[in-house]
Amino acid sequence: MKLLVAWATRQGSTRASAVVLARALSALPGIEAEERDAARVGSRDFAAYDGFVVGSSIAAGMWKGSAKRLVAKLGKAGKPVAVFASAGGVMTGRKPGSAPDAPPEGSIAERQAQAVKLYVDPVLAKLGVTPVAKSAFGGRMTMFGKVQFDSWDAAPVEAWAPGLAKAFGAK
Ligand SMILES: Cc1cc2nc3c(=O)[nH]c(=O)nc-3n(C[C@H](O)[C@H](O)[C@H](O)COP(=O)(O)O)c2cc1C
Repeated sequence: MKLLVAWATRQGSTRASAVVLARALSALPGIEAEERDAARVGSRDFAAYDGFVVGSSIAAGMWKGSAKRLVAKLGKAGKPVAVFASAGGVMTGRKPGSAPDAPPEGSIAERQAQAVKLYVDPVLAKLGVTPVAKSAFGGRMTMFGKVQFDSWDAAPVEAWAPGLAKAFGAK
C-alpha cells in the first residue's frame, strides 16, 4: 500500500511530524509512505497512492490554504484521507499565563481530542469530508527570535502510525 503524507507548515512542526509519520508508516509491513509539501500535490498524483494524510499548521485557528484545498480535492475525488493539525494552545496542556515550566495538564489523548474538536472537525464539516482518521500534535512557535513554546514530540506521531495504517485498510 502506498501512502502520501502531505504537509502545510509555517514554522516547521507539521513538516517534522510528516517526516516522522512517513518513516513510522514505512516501517510497517506492506506500507510505503512518502512525504511532500501539500502545495506540490495535485489531482495528477491521486492515482499513484492508495491513501493520503494531510497535516496543517494552525495559526489564529486557521489551516494553511494548501492543506485545505488538498483535502477538498481528495474528498471530491473520493480518495481515502486522514487529517492532522499542528497546534500550540491546547496541545501545550498549559493555561494562558501559567509558568512556562508548569507541568502540562491532562493526558496527550485529551489534548489531541480537544485540538481535533477545535481545529480539525469544523474544517472537515465545512468541506463535507469524512476522514478515515484524524489527530492533532504539538508544535513550536518562535517569535522575535525567541522560542515561545515547544510542545512538539515525535512519540505521539509514531504512536498514531499503526492505527492509521489499519484505518487505510492495511492488513
Ligand atoms: C501567528 C501564529 C498564530 C497561532 N495561532 C494559534 C492558534 O490559534 N491556536 C493554536 O493552538 N496554536 C496557534 N499557534 C501555534 C502554532 O499552531 C504552532 O506554532 C505550530 O507549530 C504551527 O505549525 P507549523 O510549525 O507547522 O507552522 C499560532 C502560531 C503562530 C505563529
